[in-house]
Amino acid sequence: MDLQAFSAHNSSREPVLLANLRRATWQRTRHGRLMSDPQTGRILSMVSHMLRPRIIIELGTFTGYGTLCLLEGLRSEGQLHTVERNDELFGLQDEFWSQHPRHDAITRHHDTALHVLENWPPELPIDLAYIDADKQGVNAQLDALLPLLSTDGWMLFDNTWWDGTLGQAKGPKADALNALNARLESDDRLQTVVLPVGDGLTAVRKH
Ligand SMILES: C[S@@+](CC[C@H](N)C(=O)[O-])C[C@H]1O[C@@H](n2cnc3c(N)ncnc32)[C@H](O)[C@@H]1O
Repeated sequence: MDLQAFSAHNSSREPVLLANLRRATWQRTRHGRLMSDPQTGRILSMVSHMLRPRIIIELGTFTGYGTLCLLEGLRSEGQLHTVERNDELFGLQDEFWSQHPRHDAITRHHDTALHVLENWPPELPIDLAYIDADKQGVNAQLDALLPLLSTDGWMLFDNTWWDGTLGQAKGPKADALNALNARLESDDRLQTVVLPVGDGLTAVRKH
């Protein structure tokens, strides 16, 4: 058993609602692999529980799996905003979100990630951001997010390992992720740790 398998075997199982959403996503969309994997989901939940954020934003909702994981630790009067440009996914999101007792805390933005960030009200500092939309856009999203984060605000970037191909891969996605990884590692305003889970989950604290 390797460390990934050991971790999956010895971690809490995903809640039943999430297991059902995972199954439905694979059955009813053509892109199930876009969904956060169970281990990444449990870490989203754990981080959210540790931080007890008041404002969470998720960039890239897909079928709403990560949304439900992040919702688990949201403070009682908190708000969870999630941004998705593809409205064909909204039916599946609604079907599963509506089964969660706290679904009223979710605000869905039918928009692009950058447009939402550029129009974000500054009086609503973001405590936790999960950046999981288009990879070409991550650096512009980081630029837009940084001033909106609360002091000690956190960001989680998914897919920063990119299947281990970043040394060789060319193209806009790989170039953007290489630039992002270099920025996150060297920016003195940020504390960064890459968690070797899923396809690489980089946790960043603004201090
Ligand atoms: C990797 S999936 C998100 C997975 C989801 N966060 C989860 O935990 O299961 C990426 C999603 O981002 C959406 N997307 C891509 N580019 C976007 C953009 N610029 N603005 C908003 N949504 C975007 C895609 O339509 C897709 O549904």
